[in-house]
Amino acid sequence: MKAITLRQPAGLEQLKRVDTADPGAPAPGEIRVRIHANSLNFHDLSVVTGRLLTADGRIPMSDGAGVVEAIGDNVTEFSVGDTVVSTFFPHWLDGGPTLADFSTTPGDGVDGYACEIVVRPAHWFTHAPRGYSHVEAATLPTAGLTAWRALVVDDALKAGDTVLVQGTGGVSIFALQFAKQMGATVIATSSSDEKLERAAALGADHLINYRRNTDWAANVLDITNGRGVDNVVEVGGPETLGQSIRACRIGGHIALIGVLTGIAGQVPTVELMLRQQKLQGLIVGSRRHQVDMIRAIDANGTKPVIDRTFPLDEIADAFRHQAAGKHFGKVCLSL
Ligand SMILES: NC(=O)c1ccc[n+]([C@@H]2O[C@H](COP(=O)([O-])OP(=O)(O)OC[C@H]3O[C@@H](n4cnc5c(N)ncnc54)[C@H](OP(=O)(O)O)[C@@H]3O)[C@@H](O)[C@H]2O)c1
Repeated sequence: MKAITLRQPAGLEQLKRVDTADPGAPAPGEIRVRIHANSLNFHDLSVVTGRLLTADGRIPMSDGAGVVEAIGDNVTEFSVGDTVVSTFFPHWLDGGPTLADFSTTPGDGVDGYACEIVVRPAHWFTHAPRGYSHVEAATLPTAGLTAWRALVVDDALKAGDTVLVQGTGGVSIFALQFAKQMGATVIATSSSDEKLERAAALGADHLINYRRNTDWAANVLDITNGRGVDNVVEVGGPETLGQSIRACRIGGHIALIGVLTGIAGQVPTVELMLRQQKLQGLIVGSRRHQVDMIRAIDANGTKPVIDRTFPLDEIADAFRHQAAGKHFGKVCLSL
């Protein structure tokens, strides 16, 4: 079967197309899945460019979607022909988080989904939303679920709340869509006026160009009459966190998700304390969270925003496109 492997030292030129052995029939408790699509995340980019170290020959891509081709004994949740989508933490099924690394994450600690066929334990997958294409389903396990958890699991968003989403990448666009569906007001930021127009078309109520308005927290306070937002989906990291704290209301929630501006920096701790805010670090979510998110998608018919889909063989170009930051929403691969 066709697969992509990443040789070390990592780099986009080290993504190689290979032919590997067919994984065969599923054992008891396993399913055999024909993978039709992947989506790209900042995490995958970090793996393939060597910012995150992985094993030589690793099959990249944490998000995979496809069709069940065969089921092993004792598999009751899936049938042959079901459309399914992978999970980011295959061993975190339910309950609170217990993992703090990527040792079990497909495409990082273990082989991922840039390949035609996998045989995995059934609980490594969930059903895909009804009516979703494989490419659409592949956007959910990392970006979709992170946005869902930030708003719904770790902060019980209510209709009437105001949410700040930063930039127009995969996580932020999902957060915009989920927040609007739940009746929130959304303030969206971007470096591009054109992308802000597209965010408005998705329902964003207020738009801020963070390149032009470098003191964007002041804009957020103006928009909210000095109160600040209820929830910040914080994808920027050290260079944005200070302004996120200023832009968030007293007692509000900041979901600390991203590392776009680096992995360490100064935090105005006194301001965070005085404003009595909840700063929540989070990494994606559990299988249970994914099942709940897909139930909501089935009920509401949300569709992901797909910027561009590349054939698997053009995986390096797909990552170049993502790294250039020109995308709006998700970049995907089709097998
Ligand atoms: N903790 C988790 O579970 C988790 C899960 C998924 C992703 N993440 C992290 O979240 C971040 C975003 O991931 P993604 O997959 O959505 O990335 P992505 O699709 O590549 O999106 C990147 C976008 O972020 C925006 N951006 C860049 N610098 C910014 C800044 N200083 N302020 C505000 N926006 C900025 C840009 O939007 P514009 O072009 O509109 O300016 C850019 O297009 C990454 O750091 C990733 O590692 C974390």
